[in-house]
Amino acid sequence: MTPRLAVLASGSGSNFQAILDASRDGRLEAAIVVLVASKPGIGAITRAEEAGIPVEIPDSTESLAEVLIRYEPDRIVLAGWLRLIPGGLVEAYSGRILNIHPALLPKYGGAGMYGRHVHRAVINAGEPVSGCTVHEVTAAYDEGPILGQVAVPVHADDTPETLAARVLVQEHRLYPSIIQTHLHGR
Ligand code: GRF
Repeated sequence: MTPRLAVLASGSGSNFQAILDASRDGRLEAAIVVLVASKPGIGAITRAEEAGIPVEIPDSTESLAEVLIRYEPDRIVLAGWLRLIPGGLVEAYSGRILNIHPALLPKYGGAGMYGRHVHRAVINAGEPVSGCTVHEVTAAYDEGPILGQVAVPVHADDTPETLAARVLVQEHRLYPSIIQTHLHGR
């Protein structure tokens, strides 16, 4: 049976799109069975609707759990999801929740380290290199076992926006391939 993915997103959904594209062209042997959105009006919802993928917008921890139980995913894929996953869900899906972070963890992770905040911190620290990390989700932000990373250079004239764009290109390549390996071991 084709493995089932629940993708959770809070933003534009470009990683959701990259996973969807990979599942369509066979690089990723899995099907996205639901997009879980944190709020109405985000780009990820438009992308899901265009692809005919069901969208759910849970308004509480209980309804998030109910959605996940209903769709029976093999993996829960956080793709720009900005809320903490409740401890009960992390336990229930132990080792089966993945996240992507736009920096080279374990540096530049943790509470408050998301989006442009991450890239600004990397630039302000004078790091020559940044990148992205896919990891398993545990109860603490950005601390689960690392499954894969890609590095990109930081340029002297980078802004958070230019660095984010360079990292995002690699996120779109890394995430589908790590999900494939996590599911199929190849
Ligand atoms: C990505 O940079 C991801 O690493 C971070 O949030 C961003 C989501 O972007 N967790 P998108 O919604 O996938 O375009």
